Amino acid sequence: MKPLRYVCLGAGGIATQHTSKFAEEPNVSVVGFQDVSPKGLQSWKQKFPAAEIDTDPVALLTKTKPDFAIICSPNIAHIDLTKKALAAGCHVLCEKPMAMTLDEALDMEKARRKANKFGFINFSYRYFTAFRFAREIVRLGELGRIQRMNISYLQSFLGAEATPYTWRNDVTLAGFGAMGDLGVHMIDAASYITDEKPLRLVGVAQTLIPTKKDIKGKQQKVTTDTNASFLIQYESGAIGTFETSQVIPGYGNNFHIEISGDRGVLRVCSETGDHISLYAGKSLSFYDTWNIENFPQISIPSGFKNRQPKSTQEVFARLLRGEKIEYPSFDDGILAQRCLNGLLDSMKDKAWANI
Ligand SMILES: NC(=O)c1ccc[n+]([C@@H]2O[C@H](COP(=O)([O-])OP(=O)(O)OC[C@H]3O[C@@H](n4cnc5c(N)ncnc54)[C@H](O)[C@@H]3O)[C@@H](O)[C@H]2O)c1
Repeated sequence: MKPLRYVCLGAGGIATQHTSKFAEEPNVSVVGFQDVSPKGLQSWKQKFPAAEIDTDPVALLTKTKPDFAIICSPNIAHIDLTKKALAAGCHVLCEKPMAMTLDEALDMEKARRKANKFGFINFSYRYFTAFRFAREIVRLGELGRIQRMNISYLQSFLGAEATPYTWRNDVTLAGFGAMGDLGVHMIDAASYITDEKPLRLVGVAQTLIPTKKDIKGKQQKVTTDTNASFLIQYESGAIGTFETSQVIPGYGNNFHIEISGDRGVLRVCSETGDHISLYAGKSLSFYDTWNIENFPQISIPSGFKNRQPKSTQEVFARLLRGEKIEYPSFDDGILAQRCLNGLLDSMKDKAWANI
């Protein structure tokens, strides 16, 4: 099996998740870390003594010559680090949201095409089995013609006083708050599960927590949105209603999706990943244990579960080893970015914005 070597450009919280998940993949090894924080890099060196560390991404890429780079920095640096990695001959796995603006995302795709490398956006919920099963149900036609979706992604962590002010609260570093952090997962999951294509969008975002203390105890102004609500109309005419927030008390990480068509409805939730709820009309032939009277909860069939890739990291490794496998590409990142752009336009013009 072809060995794969990678570096993390930006090495904070999400880099920890990538390194632990890639450690489960055979013959994939981390060879370097780059970050603006020398102190942070030292702790990576302790954990991975054989890996190189550097504050300069180009120096690290030159030293290590990796097969791929994972872009794990705050959103402001995604474009710069992606272009540097592509120029060094690497495939790129970039965190979401892809970029600060649509223009940046388009520029990243242009650089990727020129380098002729894979570009993957970490829309990690595509590998959540319940969401994949929802997609299977939609594709089997069990819901009939899709008419509506209702999607919410709610968290509370940012409202807590114990959560200090960070780059996530600064629009010049993050580009967006809840709408970029959680909203893009919702936008991607909706199209992934249903194959519906966004046409136009109207919505509003707000900042419900105006200030937060930083780690030194100094009050800082929060300039990103903490919550957003929007409607997307799809090319088919179907309507999606979306709500996201980082500041609703009582919610940990609740990503809820309901989809209905003219023959049925399904619900899936990130907190109950072992089943979906389904009420479908007549065509209950494929998975035949359903009790349609009670909008029952259906355990995900183990046969289905066992056939699914388990993570972003598994799919990325398989892709780089030459397998023809579906994955969230830079084009999917651009689509989500178009929707974010649409939301900004909609708020500015107080009207629907075309996507
Ligand atoms: N796919 C997901 O579900 C998911 C989950 C969490 C975070 N993310 C994304 O991952 C990215 C990083 O988030 P995080 O939670 O790891 O943040 P974090 O604050 O924990 O880590 C960011 C790291 O980047 C470093 N950094 C800052 N500026 C940099 C620069 N110019 N170049 C290189 N490194 C720089 C910081 O020192 C820090 O170590 C964001 O884009 C975020 O949206 C995605």
